[in-house]
Amino acid sequence: MGDSRLLDMLLSHPGEYVSGEEISRKLSISRTAVWKQINKLREEGYEFEAVSRKGYRLISRPERLEYSALLQVLNTTAFGRKLKLLDVTTSTQEEVRLLAEQGAEEGTLVIAEEQTIGRGRQGRKWHSPAGKGIWMSLLLRPRLPLSAAPQLTLLSAVAVCRAIRAVTGVAAGIKWPNDLLVDGRKVCGILLESAGEDEMIRYCIAGIGIDANLTPDDLPPELASIATSLQIESGRKVDRAVLIGAVMAELEKLYGLYMEEGFAPIGHLWEALSVTTGRQITIKTAQGEVAGRAMGLDERGGLIVMQEDNRLTTIFSGEVQFDGCNP
Ligand code: BTN
Repeated sequence: MGDSRLLDMLLSHPGEYVSGEEISRKLSISRTAVWKQINKLREEGYEFEAVSRKGYRLISRPERLEYSALLQVLNTTAFGRKLKLLDVTTSTQEEVRLLAEQGAEEGTLVIAEEQTIGRGRQGRKWHSPAGKGIWMSLLLRPRLPLSAAPQLTLLSAVAVCRAIRAVTGVAAGIKWPNDLLVDGRKVCGILLESAGEDEMIRYCIAGIGIDANLTPDDLPPELASIATSLQIESGRKVDRAVLIGAVMAELEKLYGLYMEEGFAPIGHLWEALSVTTGRQITIKTAQGEVAGRAMGLDERGGLIVMQEDNRLTTIFSGEVQFDGCNP
């Protein structure tokens, strides 16, 4: 008794409600099994409306990213030109790591419709339901010391934030170092992983997770109050291919600028999009907690914090919490 019979039933009643009772009778399964199958299909990207006493109505099927649509919108020289599109994978970070070890070139991009073990910062899991978001990883091979990697993290946040604003009009801002928030809720996370040798970067993998077309139903309870999506914020479905094209273009442009002029121009762009500067914050670092007012970035990309005794300290890695309101 697979999902397809239930789906076939709803597809054969376009725009109409089919009652849970009728589905359960025709498929000889319990109402709970109907509900479970509906939720499984939701995870795969199908959208349903469920109304009590009426039943379920299919609203939309998952939209798939296609090579042809992506190539049409890519306006870059290298970034995204070597492209691998996957229906499902454990993590696009893993896919790119394997390609990098086999000698893949800078700009190689892997995009998955769904990740089963999407990973976030600090060993957290990244919720990556099918067909709803942008789950992608980009290979970079800068000839730079490993100590420059955090600057690439900030650069990635700036690029994605600018692309989101340009394509969707959603006023996303950056929480240090690289979370993108809308009204305090997270809409995108970035994970930069590096491999090095003799203190130099061998390669970096910029992992970008954008909650594009998730609906409130797609957010598990633990994320409901801290995450959002571009669709929720704008009231419109985002054309994922167009947004991917814009992110690649911004990344390629800012990466070129960074390689030529160093971090200063990127730092200024980061400041212009920051929702951290000026806020009262607590940062959890490996050395303990630091509380104070965020004063902005230093020239290396560290966050300058003024503590209660007016002492300035610069933090290079940690988790920021906004005091009084913690997204
Ligand atoms: C964070 O914790 O905020 C970072 C989340 C990064 C998620 C993206 S989705 C694409 C890539 N593949 C992963 O497994 N993680 C990153």
